[in-house]
Amino acid sequence: MPDRKTRLRRAVSRSALAPLAALPVRLARVARHDAKVLRESARWLVTSREHHNYTYDLTKLNLEHLAWFVSVVAEVPVADVRAWIAEIEADTALRTHIERTTANAARRGLADRHVRYARRLGWYALIRARKPQHVVETGVDKGLGTCVIAAALLRNAAEGHPGRVTSLDINPEAGYLAKAQPWADVVDLVIGDSIASIGALDRPVDMFLHDSDHSAAHEQREFTAIEPHLAERALLLTDNVTYTTVLLKHAEKTGRRFLAFKEQPVRHWYPGDGIGAAWR
Ligand SMILES: C[S@@+](CC[C@H](N)C(=O)[O-])C[C@H]1O[C@@H](n2cnc3c(N)ncnc32)[C@H](O)[C@@H]1O
Repeated sequence: MPDRKTRLRRAVSRSALAPLAALPVRLARVARHDAKVLRESARWLVTSREHHNYTYDLTKLNLEHLAWFVSVVAEVPVADVRAWIAEIEADTALRTHIERTTANAARRGLADRHVRYARRLGWYALIRARKPQHVVETGVDKGLGTCVIAAALLRNAAEGHPGRVTSLDINPEAGYLAKAQPWADVVDLVIGDSIASIGALDRPVDMFLHDSDHSAAHEQREFTAIEPHLAERALLLTDNVTYTTVLLKHAEKTGRRFLAFKEQPVRHWYPGDGIGAAWR
């Protein structure tokens, strides 16, 4: 028979007093979690200059999830995906170019010099896997993603699969990282509202990435506008997948499969973005 103390604990856990009795343990757990977020936030306020479109590294486990995500979407062995991720991480010419250009840019006061690609590693690997001839990216900002896409297209071209990226942004100052060679050789930067620019596209699109105005209404307008321009087996991607259901609904409506990847940033208060993918 259980002793008196155990009998008492069991009686409390079954009674209406249970939530009150567990309060100290619950408080300690949530305080430990919140203290960690506050510590990361304070460190970020002092060490980072970014005010939007944050950059960070992904946890080791999260990188594995990303590799498997790309493997499933592109139907390629996960070992190939890991090799492509290692390939861009080892691309010192690209990294040095981004670091130097950031250090000398007019907007350097609002950019971190350290280069962290995060989910863009997934974009890179998807392009290496699917060898698209024409990629369209909406939303360019400094041009970090554009450079990553261009780097993948240049590697594909060296292996006999040339391709170009059309990058659309409403801000005339966008894309300064993507204006240097060799990356600029495969980039067509178009300034204007993405919906109008999509309407003016004159060749089929093999891969489309939404990363511009993140309102659900604008995201929806982009996927509707791009549809008549898509090649038969085009891959649709969104940067908005952790916030809206636009792409998953569009996938269902258009008879595509859908999958989502969610980032886990290392030592950052921001919970991360993700990649949504829809394909046939
Ligand atoms: C999140 S940033 C893009 C990030 C970029 N793809 C990267 O990898 O770092 C969003 C960009 O979308 C642009 N944007 C916002 N509304 C837009 C619109 N209606 N048409 C085109 N670009 C737009 C902004 O100027 C901004 O540069």
